[in-house]
Amino acid sequence: MEVAIEPKSIQYQPAGQFEDTRFEKIHNVIFNDSKTGSLEVAKEIAKLIRKKQEAGKKCVLGLATGSSPIKVYEELVRMHKEEGLSFKNVVTFNLDEYYPMERNNIQSYHYFMHQHLFDHIDIDPANVNIPDGTVPSDKLQKYCRSYESQIEKAGGLDFQLLGIGRTGHIGFNEPGSHFNSATRDITLDHITRVDAAPAFKGLENVPRKAVTMGIGTIRKAKRIVLLAWGQNKSEIVRDTIEGEISPEVPATYLQEHSNATFVLDKEAAAHLTRIDTPWLVRTCDWTQDLTHKAVVWLSLQKEKPVLQLTDKDYNDSGMSDLLSTEQSSYEINIRTFNRLQHTITGWPGGKPNADDTNRPERATPEKKRVIIFSPHPDDDVISMGGTFDRLVSQGHEVHIVYQTSGNIAVADHEALKIAEVANSITKTDIFSKVIEDLNGKTEEDFDSELVRKIKGNIRRSESYGATRYMGIPDSQVHFLDLPFYETGAIRKKPLGEDDIKIMNDIIEEIKPHQIYAAGDLADPHGTHRVCLEALFASLKELKAKPFMDDCWVWLYRGAWHEWEIHEIEMAVPMSPAQVLRKRKAIFYHQTQKDGVMFQGEDLREFWVRAEDRNKETAQKYQALGLASYAAMEAFVRYHY
Ligand code: F6R
Repeated sequence: MEVAIEPKSIQYQPAGQFEDTRFEKIHNVIFNDSKTGSLEVAKEIAKLIRKKQEAGKKCVLGLATGSSPIKVYEELVRMHKEEGLSFKNVVTFNLDEYYPMERNNIQSYHYFMHQHLFDHIDIDPANVNIPDGTVPSDKLQKYCRSYESQIEKAGGLDFQLLGIGRTGHIGFNEPGSHFNSATRDITLDHITRVDAAPAFKGLENVPRKAVTMGIGTIRKAKRIVLLAWGQNKSEIVRDTIEGEISPEVPATYLQEHSNATFVLDKEAAAHLTRIDTPWLVRTCDWTQDLTHKAVVWLSLQKEKPVLQLTDKDYNDSGMSDLLSTEQSSYEINIRTFNRLQHTITGWPGGKPNADDTNRPERATPEKKRVIIFSPHPDDDVISMGGTFDRLVSQGHEVHIVYQTSGNIAVADHEALKIAEVANSITKTDIFSKVIEDLNGKTEEDFDSELVRKIKGNIRRSESYGATRYMGIPDSQVHFLDLPFYETGAIRKKPLGEDDIKIMNDIIEEIKPHQIYAAGDLADPHGTHRVCLEALFASLKELKAKPFMDDCWVWLYRGAWHEWEIHEIEMAVPMSPAQVLRKRKAIFYHQTQKDGVMFQGEDLREFWVRAEDRNKETAQKYQALGLASYAAMEAFVRYHY
């Protein structure tokens, strides 16, 4: 595609100047990944600091917390340590703080800023301003006014760094916030609290209020850079950049700022018109993949099966140039239909003795060795239980490899139950210690190693329940307990060589013909993404080994999103009976039922989400004019 990904700079340009950005009302630049985008932002900040230094002036920065700016801060710290970037002339004002909130609470933004930035640079502590979450409520208004006037006294914000919440908030200016709002206290939106719940170990612990700079305060900044990474942000990013200005999406107020830039990664930009449906804004280079995507889109849009789309449908939807390169719409329809048809197979391990020219998998070897990597002990059955079942019943040697222990997602009462049952038979020091540890645990404490072990083992037992039900021997079930995950806290360690070595060892031991893995890139810091990165790193290291020539990798999507229909390369249909078998396998993971620890906003249980999603895929295939199945699981092939 001709879209400029990896732009040379993030320098401001007025939005919507070009044909393909005509729907866009905020200047934005798209990077391949959050790291490269963050480096550019850090560069701009460093340049500004140095420019002000040379002019003997203070540089006033407005700063944000959250996951989005972390890599920018990392780079600024690196520049300080390795390139002598000094922060002596820098004055900072943070956007917000939870209220009430003690400074030394590990969830406070005060703590966050020191941990990620201030403790590692030479800024004068007197120049650091973060809204104070301890001000008594009767003094809060006055405090907010003084925060505002301090910003003014400092000469106003030279640069404001922002993230965006899924509600469209900037700072904590939730929907409904006024265009001219100033620093004030605010009640947090439910979605914002849900997003913060994992860090607080549960929604009930997330503060209901916050103190935030207002929209008016932010708008006065001379330069604004907003960061958004990952698929989770893609819809709000599109609504903010392409939608109408509205208090319902407070970030849309930035459309009126004359020097605001959004810095995005590919995933966060995925729903912008020029990326998602480029044929609506420009003449396209009609590759096979783009044609396929566009025709699937057209068919779903027009609610007409692919084979019934007409020339008029194409012409009405910005696809007349595609038509002009082909004989007729019917040719394109047939090609699209066939490609979709060829993705469907009841033989995910390949159909023995069949012509496999148009099948997703090879017919040989007839019996394959298969690894299903599952980030947590349950993703295997939640995301591909139907395919797992077929692979086993079609005689393949299926190994399930659980990458992490998943211990953090087991509630305390589950571990207590096991310890009490064990002690009720024979009282032992070990289980008495577990009971003591759990009873003495406060909200802020991490689990003791012993408690973590029990929690991990509970998930192991549940997994064996499911894999035995699916008919594979325990010897083909492997628990890697990757070290990056074993911190006992929500925050994980970065992926290390020890993790990759463990992945390499299991792949080398099994020498699989097929690998299935969770292809989740939605959450930039989530366990699924790290597990996928571990696999990618491992594939890179093993690539040269002869057995790898025969190994194909298929990615499924985890519990949240499904592949888009045009992306799917293998769709495995399920009969109603198989849907029930899959449901039963998920039921074995009892600690993950009935309101799991990190539920998020979607209150449906995992088996319901999985069924809804698999049914929806089948319905979409049907809507496109293909056969009608009860449910379907979907995969995309990864070429390494
Ligand atoms: C943080 C802040 C918020 C975040 C937003 C995105 O100081 O004011 O607006 O920027 O909630 O959070 P992340 O970056 O964690 O997705």
